[in-house]
Amino acid sequence: MKNIDPTRTASWEKLNHLAVAHKNLHIKSLFADSDRFEKFSIRFEDLLVDYSKNRLNTEIKKTLLDLANEVGLKNAIEAMFTGEKINGTEGRAVLHTALRNRSNESVMVDGEDVMPEVNQVLAQMKAFADQISKGTWLGYTGKPIKSLVNIGIGGSDLGPVMVTEALKPYQNPDLEIFFVSNVDGTHIAETLKKVDPETTLFFIASKTFTTQETMTNAYTARNWFLDFAKDEAAVAKHFVALSTNAKAVEAFGIDTKNMFAFWDWVGGRYSLWSAIGLPIACAIGFDNFEKLLEGAHSMDQHFRTTAFEQNIPVILALVGIWNTNFLGASSEAILPYDQYLHRFAAYFQQGNMESNGKYVTRNGDKVDYTTGPIIWGEPGTNGQHAFYQLIHQGTHLIPCDFIAPAISHNPIGDHHVKLLSNFFAQTEALMNGKSLEEVQTEMTKMGKPAEEIEKIAPHRVFEGNRPTNSILVKQITPYTLGQMIAMYEHKIFVQGVIWNIFSFDQWGVELGKVLANAILPKLLNEKAVSSHDASTNGLINAYKAFRK
Ligand code: F6P
Repeated sequence: MKNIDPTRTASWEKLNHLAVAHKNLHIKSLFADSDRFEKFSIRFEDLLVDYSKNRLNTEIKKTLLDLANEVGLKNAIEAMFTGEKINGTEGRAVLHTALRNRSNESVMVDGEDVMPEVNQVLAQMKAFADQISKGTWLGYTGKPIKSLVNIGIGGSDLGPVMVTEALKPYQNPDLEIFFVSNVDGTHIAETLKKVDPETTLFFIASKTFTTQETMTNAYTARNWFLDFAKDEAAVAKHFVALSTNAKAVEAFGIDTKNMFAFWDWVGGRYSLWSAIGLPIACAIGFDNFEKLLEGAHSMDQHFRTTAFEQNIPVILALVGIWNTNFLGASSEAILPYDQYLHRFAAYFQQGNMESNGKYVTRNGDKVDYTTGPIIWGEPGTNGQHAFYQLIHQGTHLIPCDFIAPAISHNPIGDHHVKLLSNFFAQTEALMNGKSLEEVQTEMTKMGKPAEEIEKIAPHRVFEGNRPTNSILVKQITPYTLGQMIAMYEHKIFVQGVIWNIFSFDQWGVELGKVLANAILPKLLNEKAVSSHDASTNGLINAYKAFRK
């Protein structure tokens, strides 16, 4: 991949000028162009992405597209899809797209086609998931599996959680699924209270199979199980491993026959398409898991082959760059109007922040521009009654993605039209706002005295001009969910290319892990600690005093 400082490109400089020249541009005024919606929205299959409610005009959009070209985005996309080692600090290819490559065309890494291995693991997953679905995989007392417990954290947890929640309408009613991620014993303890060892299957999900939280929970689950089964041989019927590390899986005591492999070219936060997706395939059935892969593949094709101007991930990325680097936004909210998508923002919090939360360029220099935004969000309408106040009237500019399905899986009474009326109203309100004159007229009509109008009216004014994207999907299905996940994955990739950072490593999480490992032995005795800074010593010693 090219190593280009984006701020030194002609288009970046022009965008800086455009930001100054259009600093008072109001989104509302851009709708003087009656074709704006057609020009600033993209329809792809059952997905409609409307980015017209952003502070950008045709010239700004064109310059952003120039920026994409100047940084060599086309080649970078090809480099990713063709298995070049674009994860430069770990010397790895980045091939989550190969996991869902339904075309089955060869994808080469180090001169070897990865597709036969991908297909082999998918076949192994299918055979296993089918046995779970049909109730033919039996526990140590001969009963079919009823409870699935995934033990993993980060990318080995969030993807399967988010997808199984999003696709609950597709879940096998004979199965329950649980997720244990936190090393806080409460998480596993509360889960184990709900399951029966005779009918429970544990997925130990860890790319490295060394992660402290996961291994601690895995051993606790194993001990709990053996307390009942009292037979090591029974473990094989109740524990499977999803990992790249066969040696560690064996050392844990899981037969490698019950291991579902993946490879170092699958990043943790991009791994739900791999063996990490096995709990998904068991919960919703392998056919539905395949549809998820197909949806993602369709978005991959769209991303790889569509001109940038009509390319959804590219456009979303460029709009984000405009908001972040030229309008000064530091966070982005993801607001799904779908209760089933309640973990979607949390999923992309990792996806985005672990990928693009970097201040060092691919060159090793420190950036002097903003990179990855803070990602957060909750489903609407709950968020409206919690934090939207700040989005509407606060001092931070918070671009929002509003996501909604046209068709609900639960068409009860008028719930869905009410939900969607809120979805449409919010982006309208965020754009239009409400002027002082409008407020004054309204209050006068309400018969309020002049004195009260003068005092209260400023508080009821909304500046508006808050940027939003609206993502309307026909229905949340395995296929469209696959498309939406891939859409955001590629958005993140495009932004990383433009910011000239490595999006596929996560060195920033290492230091905390190392220090926790160094502190742990010091917590196992009652000796006072003095080897840290005064604050850390003070906290550790207070903890030791409390627990006496
Ligand atoms: O938090 C860092 C991280 O490495 C994530 O990137 C990853 O998803 C998570 O830990 C879990 O890692 P593993 O799958 O190896 O247990």
